[in-house]
Amino acid sequence: MDLGGELDINFDNASGPFPNNLVVRPIGRVAGAELPGLDLRSPLTEETIDFILKALAKYHVLSFPDQDLTKDQQVLFTKQFGELEGHVALDHNGKPFPAVHIVSNLDPDGQPTAKPRSHGNYFWHSDKSYHATPSLATILYAKEIPPNGGATQFANMQMAYDELYPEMKQMIDGLEVVHHWAQSRRNSCNAPATPEQEKESPPVTHPIVRIHPETNRKSIYLGIHASHIAGMNWHEGREIIYRLTDMVTQPRFVYTHEWKTNELVMWDNRSLMHRATGDFAQDLHPRVLHRTVLRGAKPLSP
Ligand SMILES: [Fe+2]
Repeated sequence: MDLGGELDINFDNASGPFPNNLVVRPIGRVAGAELPGLDLRSPLTEETIDFILKALAKYHVLSFPDQDLTKDQQVLFTKQFGELEGHVALDHNGKPFPAVHIVSNLDPDGQPTAKPRSHGNYFWHSDKSYHATPSLATILYAKEIPPNGGATQFANMQMAYDELYPEMKQMIDGLEVVHHWAQSRRNSCNAPATPEQEKESPPVTHPIVRIHPETNRKSIYLGIHASHIAGMNWHEGREIIYRLTDMVTQPRFVYTHEWKTNELVMWDNRSLMHRATGDFAQDLHPRVLHRTVLRGAKPLSP
Protein backbone atom coordinates (compact mmCIF):
# COMPACT_ATOMS: atom_id res chain seq x y z
CA MET A 1 0.00 0.00 0.00
CA ASP A 2 1.57 3.28 -1.09
CA LEU A 3 1.12 5.92 1.55
CA GLY A 4 2.27 8.67 -0.76
CA GLY A 5 2.50 11.33 1.94
CA GLU A 6 4.75 12.10 4.85
CA LEU A 7 4.42 10.22 8.12
CA ASP A 8 7.28 9.95 10.58
CA ILE A 9 6.56 6.29 11.37
CA ASN A 10 7.88 3.82 8.84
CA PHE A 11 5.29 1.10 8.27
CA ASP A 12 7.23 -0.46 5.39
CA ASN A 13 8.42 -3.25 7.64
CA ALA A 14 5.12 -4.33 9.20
CA SER A 15 6.93 -6.26 11.92
CA GLY A 16 8.29 -3.01 13.36
CA PRO A 17 9.82 -2.39 15.80
CA PHE A 18 7.12 0.09 16.80
CA PRO A 19 6.78 2.19 19.98
CA ASN A 20 5.42 0.51 23.12
CA ASN A 21 5.84 -2.93 21.45
CA LEU A 22 2.79 -2.22 19.29
CA VAL A 23 2.01 -4.81 16.63
CA VAL A 24 0.48 -4.09 13.22
CA ARG A 25 -0.75 -6.86 10.93
CA PRO A 26 -1.81 -5.52 7.51
CA ILE A 27 -4.96 -7.29 6.28
CA GLY A 28 -5.31 -6.61 2.60
CA ARG A 29 -4.14 -4.77 -0.49
CA VAL A 30 -6.89 -2.15 -0.38
CA ALA A 31 -7.19 -1.32 3.34
CA GLY A 32 -7.10 -2.80 6.80
CA ALA A 33 -4.70 -3.69 9.59
CA GLU A 34 -5.10 -5.54 12.86
CA LEU A 35 -3.56 -4.15 16.06
CA PRO A 36 -3.64 -7.05 18.54
CA GLY A 37 -2.56 -7.01 22.15
CA LEU A 38 -4.04 -3.69 23.27
CA ASP A 39 -6.50 -3.38 26.15
CA LEU A 40 -8.64 -0.41 25.16
CA ARG A 41 -10.15 -0.13 28.67
CA SER A 42 -6.87 1.40 29.82
CA PRO A 43 -5.85 4.96 28.99
CA LEU A 44 -3.50 5.08 26.03
CA THR A 45 -0.17 6.89 26.12
CA GLU A 46 0.24 9.91 23.85
CA GLU A 47 2.72 7.89 21.84
CA THR A 48 0.19 5.11 21.29
CA ILE A 49 -2.55 7.57 20.33
CA ASP A 50 -0.21 9.17 17.80
CA PHE A 51 0.74 5.75 16.48
CA ILE A 52 -2.89 4.69 16.06
CA LEU A 53 -3.75 7.91 14.18
CA LYS A 54 -0.80 7.37 11.84
CA ALA A 55 -1.72 3.72 11.32
CA LEU A 56 -5.26 4.91 10.53
CA ALA A 57 -3.94 7.29 7.88
CA LYS A 58 -1.89 4.46 6.37
CA TYR A 59 -4.33 1.50 6.59
CA HIS A 60 -7.70 3.34 6.77
CA VAL A 61 -9.42 0.52 8.72
CA LEU A 62 -7.98 -0.64 12.06
CA SER A 63 -9.17 -3.71 13.93
CA PHE A 64 -8.54 -4.15 17.67
CA PRO A 65 -9.53 -7.75 18.46
CA ASP A 66 -10.63 -9.29 21.76
CA GLN A 67 -11.87 -6.20 23.59
CA ASP A 68 -14.25 -6.04 26.55
CA LEU A 69 -15.70 -2.54 26.64
CA THR A 70 -18.68 -0.96 28.37
CA LYS A 71 -20.35 1.96 26.58
CA ASP A 72 -18.70 4.41 28.98
CA GLN A 73 -15.30 2.87 28.28
CA GLN A 74 -15.91 3.19 24.55
CA VAL A 75 -16.73 6.88 25.05
CA LEU A 76 -13.50 7.37 27.02
CA PHE A 77 -11.52 5.50 24.35
CA THR A 78 -13.02 7.70 21.62
CA LYS A 79 -12.41 10.97 23.46
CA GLN A 80 -8.67 10.27 23.59
CA PHE A 81 -8.58 10.99 19.85
CA GLY A 82 -10.65 14.17 19.80
CA GLU A 83 -14.23 15.37 20.08
CA LEU A 84 -17.09 12.90 20.38
CA GLU A 85 -19.77 13.72 17.82
CA GLY A 86 -23.54 13.55 18.26
CA HIS A 87 -26.03 12.04 15.82
CA VAL A 88 -28.70 13.61 13.61
CA ALA A 89 -30.85 10.53 12.92
CA LEU A 90 -33.51 9.49 15.43
CA ASP A 91 -33.99 6.08 17.00
CA HIS A 92 -37.07 3.89 16.53
CA ASN A 93 -38.84 5.85 19.28
CA GLY A 94 -38.15 9.13 17.50
CA LYS A 95 -35.60 10.17 20.12
CA PRO A 96 -32.04 11.39 19.47
CA PHE A 97 -29.35 8.74 19.74
CA PRO A 98 -27.10 8.86 22.81
CA ALA A 99 -23.32 9.26 22.46
CA VAL A 100 -23.03 5.50 21.96
CA HIS A 101 -25.48 4.67 19.21
CA ILE A 102 -26.50 1.00 19.00
CA VAL A 103 -26.43 -0.28 15.44
CA SER A 104 -28.58 -3.40 15.32
CA ASN A 105 -31.27 -5.38 13.54
CA LEU A 106 -33.28 -5.75 16.76
CA ASP A 107 -36.88 -4.61 17.02
CA PRO A 108 -38.19 -2.67 20.07
CA ASP A 109 -38.76 -6.05 21.82
CA GLY A 110 -35.12 -7.05 21.27
CA GLN A 111 -35.90 -9.62 18.58
CA PRO A 112 -34.00 -9.87 15.27
CA THR A 113 -35.94 -8.43 12.35
CA ALA A 114 -35.37 -8.21 8.61
CA LYS A 115 -37.14 -4.82 8.45
CA PRO A 116 -34.40 -2.19 8.71
CA ARG A 117 -35.21 1.13 10.35
CA SER A 118 -33.11 2.88 7.74
CA HIS A 119 -31.76 1.90 4.32
CA GLY A 120 -29.04 4.54 4.29
CA ASN A 121 -26.28 2.27 5.55
CA TYR A 122 -26.65 -0.02 2.54
CA PHE A 123 -25.47 2.76 0.20
CA TRP A 124 -21.88 3.94 -0.15
CA HIS A 125 -21.22 6.94 2.06
CA SER A 126 -18.75 8.72 4.28
CA ASP A 127 -20.22 9.28 7.73
CA LYS A 128 -21.85 12.67 8.30
CA SER A 129 -20.66 14.24 5.05
CA TYR A 130 -23.82 16.39 5.42
CA HIS A 131 -22.03 18.31 8.19
CA ALA A 132 -19.78 21.30 7.53
CA THR A 133 -17.18 19.47 9.64
CA PRO A 134 -17.79 15.76 8.85
CA SER A 135 -16.59 12.82 10.92
CA LEU A 136 -12.90 12.03 11.08
CA ALA A 137 -13.38 8.44 12.20
CA THR A 138 -16.15 6.03 13.10
CA ILE A 139 -15.68 3.44 15.83
CA LEU A 140 -17.79 0.29 15.97
CA TYR A 141 -17.53 -2.29 18.74
CA ALA A 142 -18.99 -5.67 17.81
CA LYS A 143 -21.16 -7.05 20.61
CA GLU A 144 -23.06 -9.70 18.65
CA ILE A 145 -22.22 -10.90 15.15
CA PRO A 146 -24.23 -13.37 13.04
CA PRO A 147 -22.56 -16.70 12.23
CA ASN A 148 -22.41 -15.82 8.52
CA GLY A 149 -22.48 -12.54 6.62
CA GLY A 150 -23.16 -9.06 7.94
CA ALA A 151 -19.86 -7.66 6.68
CA THR A 152 -19.04 -3.97 6.19
CA GLN A 153 -17.41 -2.91 2.94
CA PHE A 154 -14.87 -0.13 2.58
CA ALA A 155 -13.91 1.53 -0.71
CA ASN A 156 -10.50 3.20 -0.76
CA MET A 157 -11.13 6.63 -2.28
CA GLN A 158 -7.41 7.49 -2.51
CA MET A 159 -6.64 4.38 -4.53
CA ALA A 160 -9.71 5.00 -6.69
CA TYR A 161 -8.76 8.65 -7.31
CA ASP A 162 -5.26 7.64 -8.39
CA GLU A 163 -6.74 5.21 -10.93
CA LEU A 164 -9.14 7.70 -12.57
CA TYR A 165 -8.28 8.44 -16.17
CA PRO A 166 -6.73 11.87 -16.72
CA GLU A 167 -9.76 13.33 -18.55
CA MET A 168 -12.00 12.45 -15.60
CA LYS A 169 -9.57 13.99 -13.14
CA GLN A 170 -9.55 17.12 -15.26
CA MET A 171 -13.35 17.19 -15.52
CA ILE A 172 -13.92 17.02 -11.77
CA ASP A 173 -11.04 19.32 -10.86
CA GLY A 174 -12.35 22.12 -8.66
CA LEU A 175 -15.96 20.86 -8.50
CA GLU A 176 -17.88 21.30 -5.27
CA VAL A 177 -20.63 18.93 -4.16
CA VAL A 178 -23.63 19.89 -2.04
CA HIS A 179 -24.28 17.30 0.69
CA HIS A 180 -27.68 17.46 2.38
CA TRP A 181 -29.30 15.22 4.98
CA ALA A 182 -32.80 15.78 3.57
CA GLN A 183 -31.67 14.79 0.06
CA SER A 184 -29.83 11.80 1.53
CA ARG A 185 -33.15 10.58 2.95
CA ARG A 186 -34.69 10.86 -0.53
CA ASN A 187 -31.65 9.21 -2.20
CA SER A 188 -31.97 6.18 0.07
CA CYS A 189 -35.81 5.94 -0.03
CA ASN A 190 -36.05 6.67 3.69
CA ALA A 191 -38.72 8.59 5.59
CA PRO A 192 -38.31 12.33 4.95
CA ALA A 193 -36.14 14.43 7.24
CA THR A 194 -38.08 16.05 10.05
CA PRO A 195 -38.31 19.87 10.25
CA GLU A 196 -35.90 19.72 13.23
CA GLN A 197 -33.39 17.67 11.21
CA GLU A 198 -33.74 20.06 8.25
CA LYS A 199 -32.94 22.94 10.59
CA GLU A 200 -30.03 21.14 12.22
CA SER A 201 -28.48 19.96 8.95
CA PRO A 202 -28.80 22.55 6.18
CA PRO A 203 -27.03 21.85 2.87
CA VAL A 204 -23.23 22.08 3.00
CA THR A 205 -20.66 22.18 0.22
CA HIS A 206 -17.48 20.08 0.06
CA PRO A 207 -14.83 19.57 -2.63
CA ILE A 208 -15.38 16.48 -4.78
CA VAL A 209 -11.64 15.81 -4.39
CA ARG A 210 -10.34 16.25 -0.87
CA ILE A 211 -6.85 16.18 0.59
CA HIS A 212 -6.00 13.97 3.55
CA PRO A 213 -4.48 16.27 6.17
CA GLU A 214 -2.01 13.60 7.40
CA THR A 215 -0.71 12.34 4.06
CA ASN A 216 -1.69 15.02 1.51
CA ARG A 217 -3.18 12.29 -0.68
CA LYS A 218 -6.17 13.11 -2.87
CA SER A 219 -9.42 11.16 -2.61
CA ILE A 220 -12.95 11.24 -3.98
CA TYR A 221 -15.51 12.59 -1.52
CA LEU A 222 -19.07 11.54 -2.41
CA GLY A 223 -21.72 9.13 -1.11
CA ILE A 224 -25.44 8.82 -0.52
CA HIS A 225 -25.53 12.20 1.30
CA ALA A 226 -24.37 13.96 -1.88
CA SER A 227 -27.19 15.97 -3.44
CA HIS A 228 -25.84 17.75 -6.52
CA ILE A 229 -22.86 19.62 -7.92
CA ALA A 230 -22.75 23.30 -7.02
CA GLY A 231 -23.28 25.63 -9.98
CA MET A 232 -24.25 22.82 -12.38
CA ASN A 233 -27.59 21.70 -13.79
CA TRP A 234 -29.06 19.41 -11.11
CA HIS A 235 -29.51 16.39 -13.41
CA GLU A 236 -26.11 16.77 -15.08
CA GLY A 237 -24.53 16.92 -11.65
CA ARG A 238 -26.40 13.81 -10.53
CA GLU A 239 -25.16 11.99 -13.63
CA ILE A 240 -21.56 12.80 -12.74
CA ILE A 241 -22.13 11.71 -9.12
CA TYR A 242 -23.63 8.36 -10.22
CA ARG A 243 -20.96 7.74 -12.86
CA LEU A 244 -18.08 8.58 -10.55
CA THR A 245 -19.56 6.53 -7.71
CA ASP A 246 -19.68 3.48 -10.01
CA MET A 247 -16.05 4.00 -10.97
CA VAL A 248 -14.64 4.47 -7.48
CA THR A 249 -16.51 1.57 -5.88
CA GLN A 250 -15.34 -1.13 -8.27
CA PRO A 251 -14.47 -4.36 -6.42
CA ARG A 252 -10.75 -3.75 -6.92
CA PHE A 253 -10.98 -0.73 -4.61
CA VAL A 254 -13.09 -2.49 -1.97
CA TYR A 255 -12.08 -4.25 1.24
CA THR A 256 -14.82 -6.40 2.83
CA HIS A 257 -14.53 -6.63 6.59
CA GLU A 258 -15.96 -9.78 8.18
CA TRP A 259 -16.73 -8.97 11.81
CA LYS A 260 -15.64 -10.90 14.87
CA THR A 261 -17.41 -10.61 18.21
CA ASN A 262 -15.63 -8.32 20.73
CA GLU A 263 -13.68 -6.62 17.97
CA LEU A 264 -13.45 -2.84 17.85
CA VAL A 265 -12.94 -1.28 14.44
CA MET A 266 -11.98 2.30 13.72
CA TRP A 267 -12.09 3.66 10.18
CA ASP A 268 -11.06 6.85 8.45
CA ASN A 269 -13.96 8.71 6.85
CA ARG A 270 -11.51 11.07 5.14
CA SER A 271 -10.22 8.39 2.80
CA LEU A 272 -13.01 5.80 2.55
CA MET A 273 -16.62 5.28 1.65
CA HIS A 274 -18.34 2.35 3.35
CA ARG A 275 -21.62 0.44 3.38
CA ALA A 276 -23.24 -2.40 5.26
CA THR A 277 -23.97 -5.49 3.19
CA GLY A 278 -26.99 -6.70 5.16
CA ASP A 279 -26.42 -10.15 3.66
CA PHE A 280 -27.27 -12.32 6.63
CA ALA A 281 -30.38 -13.95 8.05
CA GLN A 282 -31.57 -10.74 9.67
CA ASP A 283 -34.77 -12.25 11.03
CA LEU A 284 -32.83 -15.03 12.80
CA HIS A 285 -29.54 -13.66 14.09
CA PRO A 286 -28.77 -10.51 16.09
CA ARG A 287 -26.11 -8.16 14.78
CA VAL A 288 -25.35 -5.56 17.44
CA LEU A 289 -22.56 -2.99 17.32
CA HIS A 290 -21.87 0.01 19.53
CA ARG A 291 -20.98 3.12 17.56
CA THR A 292 -19.13 6.27 18.49
CA VAL A 293 -18.01 8.96 16.07
CA LEU A 294 -15.07 11.32 16.18
CA ARG A 295 -15.60 14.83 14.82
CA GLY A 296 -13.30 15.90 12.01
CA ALA A 297 -12.49 19.18 10.27
CA LYS A 298 -13.71 20.86 7.11
CA PRO A 299 -12.47 18.84 4.11
CA LEU A 300 -9.50 20.45 2.39
CA SER A 301 -9.39 21.18 -1.33
CA PRO A 302 -6.25 20.29 -3.31
FE1 LIG B 1 -21.94 4.82 8.04
